[in-house]
Amino acid sequence: MPAPLANLNGVLMPLDDVKISAQDRGFLFGDAVYEVLRIYNGKPWLEKEHWDRLGQSLAAIRIAGVDLERLRLRMRQTIDAGKFTEAMAYLHVTRGTAPRRHAFPKDATPLEFLFVQEYDDGPTAKARTVGTSVITHPDIRWGHCDIKSTNLLANVLANQAAAEAGASEALLYLPDGTMSEASHSSYFTADGGALCTTPLKANILPGITRNFVIRMAQKADIPVREQVMRREDLFKADEVFLTGTTTEVCSIVKVDGKPIADGKPGPMAQRLQELHRKAVAEFLRA
Ligand code: PDD
Repeated sequence: MPAPLANLNGVLMPLDDVKISAQDRGFLFGDAVYEVLRIYNGKPWLEKEHWDRLGQSLAAIRIAGVDLERLRLRMRQTIDAGKFTEAMAYLHVTRGTAPRRHAFPKDATPLEFLFVQEYDDGPTAKARTVGTSVITHPDIRWGHCDIKSTNLLANVLANQAAAEAGASEALLYLPDGTMSEASHSSYFTADGGALCTTPLKANILPGITRNFVIRMAQKADIPVREQVMRREDLFKADEVFLTGTTTEVCSIVKVDGKPIADGKPGPMAQRLQELHRKAVAEFLRA
């Protein structure tokens, strides 16, 4: 199994050898954005979509001067150099290193960091087959969850609460009882044959897999409804499921210890996961 391989500002090195200044603004302020991509058989999946979102995140926090095409080629070189096949790529751009002052430094150069590591799909594949358990948890994040910022403390605390409850994810709810998304995934419900999910607003990440699943559903003539969803609606749904880059499509069979429907993965999630699997297979053949 290849060891994780990093690329720091264009220099390839083992991930363990990466050294970043303690004055890096990503470290001091979380002044940084990131992306996570899945690599199937050595090829990055939905690469353009991830690159577009990275560009949007950088623009939203006004980090300028990043050559996105150069960064993309560095990721490709890193995948090739490490001979990665089933892997994930993590990309992280910070505003750079400068003496600690809140306002943007005048002349810092953005730090461009990425690493690629093997991804063992085994545990997730099992969860996709048998379903997973989640908890509900208050969403205490900031007002711009549409930016893929590295400020993930609220997500970390919510996911830890899930782990301590023996669950894998936390579905987040806002003070008014409406749902946003999960700590590191998007979520959907199935309701009378329709696919439902929270509308894209500043309170959720525009998930690449979320968008891909919606497009697959539309092609398969499954009605799609983007609508505000409430915490109590979860238990009225025919199905609830998670989507994400490494998760793909995974049924939720229990929320807060209570079963969803008959407590088994439902047909809508299984169908969408099968369509996702076929889409990846087709992409690899192309
Ligand atoms: N998480 N919502 C949140 C808050 C996320 O962090 C993620 C991704 C998603 C799913 O988005 P996508 O389909 O683009 O992966 C939704 C990544 C994988 C992570 O933080 O590791």
